[in-house]
Amino acid sequence: MPAVIASLKDDHLQQVRALASRTGRAEAGGCLLEGAALITQAVEAGATLRFALAAEGAADSVMSLLATAGVPVLMAKESVLRQAVRLNRPVSWLAVAELTFDVGDEQPYGDFAVVLDRVLDPGNLGTIVRTAVGLGVADIVCTDDETDLTSRRVLDASRAAVLRARLRRYETPAEAVRDLRERGFEIVATSGHARTLQGATPLSGRPVALVVGNETDGVGDEVLALADHVVRIPMSGEVESLNVGVATGISVYELRALMSLASLGGTLAAIAATVSDLRNSGSVGENAQERALAGFSEAEREQLGDFLRRVRDNFRED
Ligand SMILES: C[S@@+](CC[C@H](N)C(=O)[O-])C[C@H]1O[C@@H](n2cnc3c(N)ncnc32)[C@H](O)[C@@H]1O
Repeated sequence: MPAVIASLKDDHLQQVRALASRTGRAEAGGCLLEGAALITQAVEAGATLRFALAAEGAADSVMSLLATAGVPVLMAKESVLRQAVRLNRPVSWLAVAELTFDVGDEQPYGDFAVVLDRVLDPGNLGTIVRTAVGLGVADIVCTDDETDLTSRRVLDASRAAVLRARLRRYETPAEAVRDLRERGFEIVATSGHARTLQGATPLSGRPVALVVGNETDGVGDEVLALADHVVRIPMSGEVESLNVGVATGISVYELRALMSLASLGGTLAAIAATVSDLRNSGSVGENAQERALAGFSEAEREQLGDFLRRVRDNFRED
């Protein structure tokens, strides 16, 4: 029978307690998971768990899941677990997961990023991360020192999606937007007062950085001025604005659909240029194809190049 931890002085419980503060989490490069559901979601997300602590009588199903994932499980008195996380309700499970706070350039950006301009509420932050990750967006960009995506409330609200995201951090919203622009992103800021309707945004087909704003003040003026587009989700009635979590979900969904259309438009333009050259002169002018492919990423250009070669070959066989 393994020993049951009965003291808060135990090293594992000390590690747990250190994760109560944002600086503690940053120093440890980890976060705390509480409860069977969140721990199960974290394992399913492929997170690395350093260890788990179970109260006597804790669920067997979680025990076997953790054993399969190779996570060390230690037994502890329930009262000690509860004290360690300062909760007034029963605590059956705790676990410490690894979490990189700023992946920086170690992991490349995808083609869509969500930029948080001082969004504060943990419930909103968790909803944003959960929705973005659920819609295929992994890059979540914080733009100050304060925004904390690693607290228990954010992790809970995100259903552990924070552990699937690539978290990035800049000093200010303007710095984030400038850097993303240099990386080739088209900047789309959102506001309930914008003139342009989001559904009519003329996207170029480049990667998109969506900026969403603070619950009270919205996106700051400097970022609004720097953005390529400032767009609005139409609302009716007397509503002044949508909840930022809900608005982010709508924006990610609609802008990704618009991006697909923009890239389809580019593909059609490339095909049209190739076919038109072939019709007119029997060969494909380098310039026509280059022009049509401008704005595509290296990988997309390669794929389209292959596709256009096949169009050309078929044309020749005819
Ligand atoms: C509660 S709103 C901020 C309200 C603030 N009073 C303002 O005027 O912007 C928080 C964020 O949700 C997003 N949002 C809310 N309603 C929106 C809408 N109708 N269209 C686009 N974005 C919206 C924006 O990113 C906004 O900054």
